[in-house]
Amino acid sequence: MPVWMLLTALLLALPAYALSPVAARHGMVASSEPLASQAGVEILQAGGNAVDAAVAVGFVLAVTFPQAGNLGGGGFMLIRMANGDAVVVDYREQAPAAASRTMYQDAQGNLIPDATSAGARAAGIPGTAMGLALAEEKYGKLGLKRVMAPAIRLAREGFPVSYSLAQALHSERARLEKYDDSRRIFLHDGHLYEPGATFLQPELARTLAEIAQRGPRAFYRGVGTKAFEATMRKYNGLISRQDLKQYQAKLRPPLVGRFRGYDILSVPPPSSGGTMLIEMLNVLEPLDLGTPNSYASIHLIAETMRRAYADRATYLGDADFVSVPVAGLTSPRYAARLREAILQSSPDAPVRAGEPQAFESGATTHFSVVDAEGNAVANTYTLNGWFGCGVTVEGAGFLLNNEMDDFAAKPGQPNMFGLVQGEANAIAPHKRPLSSMTPTIVTRDGKVRLVLGSPGGGTIINIVLQVLLNVLIYKMDILQAVTSPRFHDQWMPDYLTLERVGFSSDTLENLQQAGYPLSFRDSLGDCEAIEIDPASGWRFGASDPRADGKAVGY
Ligand code: DON
Repeated sequence: MPVWMLLTALLLALPAYALSPVAARHGMVASSEPLASQAGVEILQAGGNAVDAAVAVGFVLAVTFPQAGNLGGGGFMLIRMANGDAVVVDYREQAPAAASRTMYQDAQGNLIPDATSAGARAAGIPGTAMGLALAEEKYGKLGLKRVMAPAIRLAREGFPVSYSLAQALHSERARLEKYDDSRRIFLHDGHLYEPGATFLQPELARTLAEIAQRGPRAFYRGVGTKAFEATMRKYNGLISRQDLKQYQAKLRPPLVGRFRGYDILSVPPPSSGGTMLIEMLNVLEPLDLGTPNSYASIHLIAETMRRAYADRATYLGDADFVSVPVAGLTSPRYAARLREAILQSSPDAPVRAGEPQAFESGATTHFSVVDAEGNAVANTYTLNGWFGCGVTVEGAGFLLNNEMDDFAAKPGQPNMFGLVQGEANAIAPHKRPLSSMTPTIVTRDGKVRLVLGSPGGGTIINIVLQVLLNVLIYKMDILQAVTSPRFHDQWMPDYLTLERVGFSSDTLENLQQAGYPLSFRDSLGDCEAIEIDPASGWRFGASDPRADGKAVGY
């Protein structure tokens, strides 16, 4: 065959997409921060696998994306190796030993305003250093020293502050200036960073270098705990040396669901994400979902969301502490019962004006990695609120989470994401707070098709659901699927939240007439996703246009 014919044939075999995701033949990293994605690809090109790259990205985000990237928080990493082995590294935070069920209530039993979200008392025992190191040890090839090198360099030599980081630092000034090291480091002693300025973090560079040298022991034991204890004393926090010493990241089997011929791998408790995602997909499996974002499809999906979130509120919590009926919630027979109820019900709730929900801006971040062999990592980790609880561990240069807000500080009362939660998620010493983080990998016939996840507090599970449906049912390409407008229903408070732009006025009218109380938000989430085309093997990366991230491939 002449060369031109061969080339034409090859070109025709490549998928044509409506939007233009980033295309690459070998490996891809999609994250919320371009320097982090770039560092991940460098690790892949240096011979690292997807886990090496993911661990590198996780540590870089702790430097370049301090609003959510972290050492002082926690999360979940879902790993699927090309040979089919899959595991979840659960490095979720834990309540300190001194925590108690009513610690955020006053003498009358009322919740103390801001107690779960601001200051050192809002922090859970961090898991990130332990979780990333464990992933590297078990599944990486290059070793901690090599994969941490980009993060250490960026902290030591600095990096140019992006527009969005400058904006975040300016907008959170009030939260950060209350704490000495947070003011000195992140507010530059009051001379706030402007876009383009160089951000140097020598203390963080030292902390990272110690972890690279000595492993997570440097963080959880011995000298590393001194700074922690001093900070806790100064700001009245509860995390003790003993709390740090007993902390363990845990390896858990992923939850696996089936949806229209695909295998859906996601995370088990203490996240609610995988359980709820599979429950919702089971309900939707046989339904005709019509056209995307039409009244008919939104109605069916929103009714499914409501029921799953009602279950979440009642049954979900840390399964090491309470019994969670995961098998029942993810059973197709249970889903059939929910589906029947949805099809028989008419949404005739009285129309009420929407109220803006009490969502605080949040600080979680997701990244997805695929390497040339087909190993894949979906990682979501968080400080919970933007810059966590606002407190920096003194002399160590990293911010602490406010993950205690994810517990039901008073069962039945909403948390910062408006989520109403139950007894199963009440506070107890060393329990992990219930999460909504949903790092997810979709496979078909043993091969990875999609890797995805998002921040967004209680909205995360529904965001992942919609991006999945957009690809698997509506056949959108990955960038279309990520860009498409989103909606969210979390059962309580009882309204359907939609992105302000993207839904037709007819659809909104139909929803209102059907009885849905509507509320609106500018945007929901920041999905960082990768799709692998099964025919050609090409990798397509999509970084959510709602945020400032980037997909980088090679
Ligand atoms: O684990 C959770 O579900 C929450 N801590 C996530 C917070 C979050 O996504 C905030 N980001 N937008």
